Amino acid sequence: MSKPKQKIYLTPTPVRIWHWLNAFGFLALILSGAQIRYPEFVNFFGSYKAAIRLHDTAGIVVSISFCLWLTYYLVVARSLLKLYVPSGDDLRLGLFRQMLFYFFNYFRGKPNPHVTTPDNKFNPLQKSAYLVIMMVLVPLVILTGFMLMNIELLRPLVLLLGGIKIIAGAHFLLACILIAFLFTHVYLATLGHTPFAHFKPMWTGWEEHEDEHGKTH
Ligand code: HEM
Repeated sequence: MSKPKQKIYLTPTPVRIWHWLNAFGFLALILSGAQIRYPEFVNFFGSYKAAIRLHDTAGIVVSISFCLWLTYYLVVARSLLKLYVPSGDDLRLGLFRQMLFYFFNYFRGKPNPHVTTPDNKFNPLQKSAYLVIMMVLVPLVILTGFMLMNIELLRPLVLLLGGIKIIAGAHFLLACILIAFLFTHVYLATLGHTPFAHFKPMWTGWEEHEDEHGKTH
């Protein structure tokens, strides 16, 4: 007889709104950014001007939704540090254990070593990756993008940091790192007890836990 499914509320509404605005915004940024960077090879949006307009608009949407995310976690939920900062144990052992799971044990049908709860919803690898992405890389890509959108206004700052070429190069490099993260992120998100187990809470807020061994995944 199958065990009753246990449901936990994992992802509050503001986080879900931020996440999907962010995800679709990023896709628009990647496609329009590819056309702006390589206009001779890529033409998704007709004209070069249209690609720039879409890139600027999606950049503003992603920046505003980032502020929503940060305000929610800092002011409303006050759980940014608890959820996103890995502990000493996470860094010493947890990271290794989680990588061992993703590289080997997942394929041998072993359970995930991390037990998800609303107070500890990320495994050590997620915590470390999300912390660097959300606190370093996304703010830097937003900042360099903002400078490139307002070159005239921010001329002294742009010159101080080495000029347009350096800022544009940094913006492109950050975007490449974020694209690499995106592929890994989406792949790892499919490794729940079913391929969509981690996608459901990102849409409905609720995650279903079901395990014949009495463990949650
Ligand atoms: C096609 C695009 C994307 C898809 C399908 C996707 C999918 C998911 C899923 C299924 C989760 C929940 C499970 C998990 O934590 O692994 C999640 C969480 C998360 N994703 Fe994404 N993602 C996308 C884009 C992005 C981007 C572009 C970023 C950041 C730059 C991002 C950052 C995060 C963060 C920080 C969380 C944890 C949110 C929280 O609960 O506080 N995702 N994503």
